[in-house]
Order: sequence, then structure tokens, then C-alpha cells
Amino acid sequence: MAEKALIEKQIHGLREQVAAWKQAGLRIGLVPTMGAIHAGHLALVERARAHGCKVGGKVGNKVVASVFVNPKQFGPNEDFAAYPRQLDTDARLLSEAGCDLIYAPQTNSIYPPGFATTVAVSGLTDVLCGASRPGHFAGVTTIVAKLFNQCQPDFAVFGEKDYQQLLVIRQMVRDLDMPVEILAHPIIREPDGLALSSRNTYLSDEQRQTAPRLYATLEEMAAALRAGQAPQAVFAQARKALQQAGFRIDYLELRDPETLQDRLTDAPRLQQPARIFAAAFLGATRLIDNLAVSPASPS
Ligand code: PAF
Repeated sequence: MAEKALIEKQIHGLREQVAAWKQAGLRIGLVPTMGAIHAGHLALVERARAHGCKVGGKVGNKVVASVFVNPKQFGPNEDFAAYPRQLDTDARLLSEAGCDLIYAPQTNSIYPPGFATTVAVSGLTDVLCGASRPGHFAGVTTIVAKLFNQCQPDFAVFGEKDYQQLLVIRQMVRDLDMPVEILAHPIIREPDGLALSSRNTYLSDEQRQTAPRLYATLEEMAAALRAGQAPQAVFAQARKALQQAGFRIDYLELRDPETLQDRLTDAPRLQQPARIFAAAFLGATRLIDNLAVSPASPS
């Protein structure tokens, strides 16, 4: 049976344990989560465990997962109250995946009365989810900066499902000289292609049947772009197909994978590697997904 992860709710307990591990020469990997743990999070924990493994299989690191539903990254009409909270189940799943310590702070120890600081990245946050969810990324960077300060990890792992979040965090770490290596992990999907998300549990049976069409559409778009079809036509067709399937599209865009600059030009074909980004509602549930796309190599 997997060893149970320690659970710390206070910053001083977290700091003491991390300091002891560092003193023993171990590296600390942080996996920040909002709980409602699924296989996507567990893959991040496994990635953190494997990172820095010494030759010969001896693990040279310890993995901390934070579980905190961060109120600052939810808009006033979003699902903060409904967001699943299940610390016992999360602790069991995280322990089984090899997590060593779960940091599950209370809201008032993260944001005590009088808390007045925001960490915000500009530019990258003006588009996509940043445009649709004002204030969201400032909430994310503020909590991630705090978690980095509290835990002082050597590295942290983020999933590519929140690809824009990953870029924003990388920018913050670069700009503020935070001594944390940022690792990315590919999207984990259900067998039918739906990207794993804690919000998938909100879907009705019928919506769950429809949901994989989002990724299927991205794959069809990538194939059409690779085949040399005109980007504008591919996007127009995909918008129509998603709407017909029952999605309400928030955005469907083609952007640069590093700068997030718009790449949906009138050019007759895709010119350079890019990424398709999608956010779409099924009922009240907002799903996001993204997929890398490259032009066909000249034969
Ligand atoms: O990706 C998430 O679950 C959250 O945005 C994060 C990084 C844990 C910050 O609350």
C-alpha cells in the first residue's frame, strides 16, 4: 500500500518539512492544484516524482501538492461555490500517486484580513481566457507566487490543458527571477479525447456525449491546416460544426505558441507552427482545450 502523504494546513508546518528535506539534500517539486483530483493531476505528480531521479532509480526529490480553491481566480458569476471540495479523496489519490506532502491551507491563512497585493502579468493575459475572464490570471499569478514563496520548491509542474496559464507563469517566473524551474506536462485525455478537467463532472450525460466533439474538431482543424487548407475557411467551418453540435463558442483562435499573437491571417495556408485554442460552453459548463499545429513540411 502507498505511504500516506503528510497533510499540512499551516505554512510553518510546510516550511519546516520542506527545510528538513532540503537539508537532507532532496529537491522539492510542487504540483499546485485546486483539488478535485483526477488522472491529469496524478500525471503531474508522477512527472514531479520522476524529475531529477538519480541514475539507479533512487528518488532524489520530494513532491508537494497544494490543494486550494483560490477565490481570487474566479469571476463573480463563476463556479467558486460549486467547485468540488473533497480533501479526503484527494489525499488518498495523491498519496497513491506518490505525493509526499499535501498542503491544504485555509482561505484566511492565504488571504488574511488586510491582504493587499496582486501579482499580474500583462500582455499574455490580454487574450483568450484573459479576455473572457477578467482578473482570472491575476488571481492565478498571485496564488502561484504565494505558493512558490511558501513552499520554495526547486521545480513546479503545470499541465498544458491550461496552456495560457503555463505561459503566464513562465513569464512571471522569468520577470521576477523566481528560482523555480517550470515543467510542462501534456494534456491527459479520456479515451474518447475529452481533456480531463475537474469541471467535466458538471456535464449531464447528454453533454458528456457531446463534449469529445471539441477535441475531435481541433484534430480535424489541425489535419485540414496541415493539408494546406486556408486557415480562415477551416476556422469558419469548425465554428459552424461546434455550434451545430450544441456548443456556445467563447473563442476559437489560432495563436503563436509562445507569444500568443494572433496567427489567423488571410494567408492561403498555414505558414508556421501555431496552436489552436478553444473555449466553449455546453450549458453552463465551460470547456477549454488546445492543440499544436504545424504546416506540412515541403515534400
Ligand atoms: O490550474 C489550476 O488548477 C490553478 O489555476 C492553480 C495553478 C492551482 C492555481 O490556483
